[in-house]
Amino acid sequence: MSISQLAREIKESPTLALNEKARILREKGDPVIHLGSGEPKSKVPIDAILNCASKLQSADIRYTPTEGIPALIKAVIRYTEDNYAKTVGPENVLVSNGAKHSIYNVLMTILNPQDEVIVCAPYWVSYPEIIKMMYGVPVIVKPEDGRFQPRIQDIIENVGSYTKAIIINSPNNPSGAVYSQDFIAEIVEYCEKKGLYLIMDDIYHKLVFDNVEVPSVFKYAKDKSEASKLIIINGVSKMYAMTGFRIGWTIANARIIEAMINVQAQNMSCPSVILQTAAAGALLGVQSSVESLRVTLQNNRDVMMTELDSFNGIHTIKPQGTFYCLPDFTAYSKDSVALSKFILEKAMVVTVPGKEFGMEAHLRLSYCGTIKEIVEGIARIKWALDPESPNEIYIGDRKLRRDWK
Ligand SMILES: Cc1ncc(COP(=O)(O)O)c(C=O)c1O
Repeated sequence: MSISQLAREIKESPTLALNEKARILREKGDPVIHLGSGEPKSKVPIDAILNCASKLQSADIRYTPTEGIPALIKAVIRYTEDNYAKTVGPENVLVSNGAKHSIYNVLMTILNPQDEVIVCAPYWVSYPEIIKMMYGVPVIVKPEDGRFQPRIQDIIENVGSYTKAIIINSPNNPSGAVYSQDFIAEIVEYCEKKGLYLIMDDIYHKLVFDNVEVPSVFKYAKDKSEASKLIIINGVSKMYAMTGFRIGWTIANARIIEAMINVQAQNMSCPSVILQTAAAGALLGVQSSVESLRVTLQNNRDVMMTELDSFNGIHTIKPQGTFYCLPDFTAYSKDSVALSKFILEKAMVVTVPGKEFGMEAHLRLSYCGTIKEIVEGIARIKWALDPESPNEIYIGDRKLRRDWK
């Protein structure tokens, strides 16, 4: 069968593949613990559900304007004012099917074939693949000191005549790092000076711990004109635990949004009116669920850190946001794909190999589940890897015997 060269080169999403694997194992009755998950488990805010239900009850479910329904656009404008201290108008907003779709639309709108996009490792798995889907070239910049904070100097060294854009994701998936204010100030200044697009993927920006401040990029932007190349991506998936609603948005100058609307109109017309109505409900309704999720995740992070601290040979940089951490497992294996597979087979714990995020010898562990899952998940991994652990362990009601070194 003839499949396009492009489609053949696009990798399967490793995180979605792992979700599917965990689901199949659970269905088979295996007591799998999923430390690879990328979605909070809290309930969707009630205002989202009520809005959505009343829209459904109206039985008037139609196409919407491509850019989104006015109520949601207004809610996004208010959100941007409240959280970024930035006034934008409806011409600066485009609602899409999740933040992933927003990023896809942005890259389709700004990239020409062979244009390069700088991506800082560790990075979200989808960036390189989406860039490649636009016939662009991802240029991965790895922090040399093995830490998770990018350095402006490393980025500058990788910028060339084909560079079109830089993507920044802070709080960061997979490391949980929040980039320093100094770095954000430097990158904004640098992109403005060089005329580069700066794409800020802020999908986790409210899920931060220990009173750390996530600065608004607009604070550092000198170019307040309609020619600004600053692009913000956000959405309801993570902060409102609304991953299944698939609503994200882009904030950018009117020229970019206008072009993006044409791109979106020809690839999916508009996001579903039911889901947009729900997202408007979440944004305009009572906000206590966001803070409650944040506090739960901070507590989960602390439990995860305590468990990892007592794990011989593992080195973890404490996350300041998101619901992931990225411990260094070099002491056990330099091959994160093989290690993740081994842990799943022997201990029935799902982890995501660091290789997928450009950080070999690490594993991404999520702490968005329950405390029990975190504690038991780490105990099982420890049992499978640490030669000093007891020979036998109970997983559910199964007794497992350690017959490997
Ligand atoms: C950094 C980052 N950006 C974007 C997304 C996509 O978000 P959405 O579910 O709204 O498409 C994710 C989801 O895991 C993510 O981790």
